[in-house]
Amino acid sequence: MTRSKLIAGNWKMNGLAASTAELDKIIAGSRDLPARVEVLVCPPFTLIDRFADRAERSRVAIGAQDVHAKESGAHTGCISAAMLRDAGASHVIVGHSERRTDQKESDAEVQAKAAAVIAAGLIAIVCVGETEAERDAGEATAVVGRQLAGSLPAGATAANLVVAYEPVWAIGTGRTPSTADVAEMHAFIRGRLRAQLGGEGEGVRILYGGSVKASNAAELLAVPDVDGALVGGASLTAEQFLPIGQAV
Ligand code: 13P
Repeated sequence: MTRSKLIAGNWKMNGLAASTAELDKIIAGSRDLPARVEVLVCPPFTLIDRFADRAERSRVAIGAQDVHAKESGAHTGCISAAMLRDAGASHVIVGHSERRTDQKESDAEVQAKAAAVIAAGLIAIVCVGETEAERDAGEATAVVGRQLAGSLPAGATAANLVVAYEPVWAIGTGRTPSTADVAEMHAFIRGRLRAQLGGEGEGVRILYGGSVKASNAAELLAVPDVDGALVGGASLTAEQFLPIGQAV
């Protein structure tokens, strides 16, 4: 089965109106990427609308970094999936480890958010990953297995679900797992997707995230069952982001 590769940028809490110039460079450079590469940029909420306008009729899709699970109502400061779609987002990251830690998001909350994203007709990117202590204790696959069982919404398909494996200790540290460890984890995740989603699990893209940059992208993207990358720091400039797409 051939799955197209998704190279996704998570801008986290970075970006102002002036960053539109950087998006323009990403849009322009994306024209030269291999045909089977999809490009996604997830800026903060405040930039989704203007980025989506800018990226219209380009091969760059625009996504969000979080969402509220409810459709509407008395939830001050929160944003619904319908609002994100209305603003021009096509994808939504849910369950990023920074939110699981900082906002204490549980698997059940992440699952509810992913379900809301899918119900709104958008694509959910569900993040999972172990801490360093969990890996050292030999619990990495057990932890990720638990997160998948608790966070994946029922009825998800290859068209509306992406999974991102991001070992917490590799995020923003410059450290990455060995390609053997990435292969082992992605094969494990593929098995769980097949078990939870049946035939659809075969087509769900599994991204690797954590210190992906131009210099390690080719090696990581060549690992079986690595269907793309979720990129933090190196997604903020076209100069660093585009070579990751070229590495596919
Ligand atoms: P870095 O690429 O900066 O390590 O961040 C990874 C990440 O958390 C993407 O969601």
